[in-house]
Amino acid sequence: MEKSIAVLTSGGDAPGMNAAVRAVVRAGIFNGFRVYGIYRGYNGLLNNDCKELNLRSVSDIIGRGGTILYTARSAEYATPEGVKQAAEFCRSLGIEGLVVIGGDGSFKGARELAAQGIACVGIPGTIDNDIACTDYTVGFDTAMNTALDMIDRIRDTAQSHDRCSVIEVMGRRCGDIALQTGIAVGATAILVPEVRYDIERDVISRIYEQKATGKKHFIIVIAEGVGGVIDKAKYIEQRTGIETRATILGHVQRGGSPTLRDRLMATAMGVAAVDILKAGIEKGEQTSRVVASRAGKIVDLDITEALDMPREFDTHLYEVAKEVSI
Ligand code: F6P
Repeated sequence: MEKSIAVLTSGGDAPGMNAAVRAVVRAGIFNGFRVYGIYRGYNGLLNNDCKELNLRSVSDIIGRGGTILYTARSAEYATPEGVKQAAEFCRSLGIEGLVVIGGDGSFKGARELAAQGIACVGIPGTIDNDIACTDYTVGFDTAMNTALDMIDRIRDTAQSHDRCSVIEVMGRRCGDIALQTGIAVGATAILVPEVRYDIERDVISRIYEQKATGKKHFIIVIAEGVGGVIDKAKYIEQRTGIETRATILGHVQRGGSPTLRDRLMATAMGVAAVDILKAGIEKGEQTSRVVASRAGKIVDLDITEALDMPREFDTHLYEVAKEVSI
């Protein structure tokens, strides 16, 4: 009898999730599985919200933002009863394996389900790039390129008016979007949650130093996790006398057509996830893995091992940013 697997997207959406869903569906069918799409994250396993997908169900989605499977952060699933109910639902449909596309929280959910006998493989999908075990998460590149484009536009008007612009980019606990876009737009200062800052030393003095060499407009990029952009903009204006505006980029960073890199990574990770599920199901092993990109290679790790890894912030890149924004 044909074996079944399923795929869901969970947590905050990210551009490239559709490309990953497409890859899982196509690779699943290629490998002889029936493939179900589960809707609205883990909620779909509790509410019987799913549909069998065929090759054409995922046509023309590789370039689409959002997720055709919808997404959610499910409080109901995150209980022992919820997990048991979800596992029973999988068994009732003959679903032996599940691919979960999402972040750390989604991987924890996958580990719980794996403990109930459903093979699970996670694919890192979040714009934040905040998953320790992988150098790259699906959605990060698109979000950064969107932020880059938006900040370039803000720079145009900041330059015309000789202003300072303070811009908040997403990243609750992770400053990667701020750091990389900040470097790419030539920001005067970049503030991230991973590095303690002093507003006088790290922002005001830098503005004064650049002003002294003739610079008249300034871009300050701040990660969401640092917060307070409106107050900081007021403070900068008051301390420097430079007219200052604040912009919160917000959810614009989460949408849009994925970049080539996101489409490619999502596709490679989706195919890898199915290969791992297939091997686990064939051997009858308990499968609780996560796909990751490490040193340019697609690898897989045990979910607990992956979740226990400490996340390293790129302090070298942070120093690079400081060195070139003098
Ligand atoms: O995890 C991705 C992310 O976009 C974070 O950068 C942000 O803090 C959060 O999700 C916002 O979540 P929500 O869409 O639920 O407001």
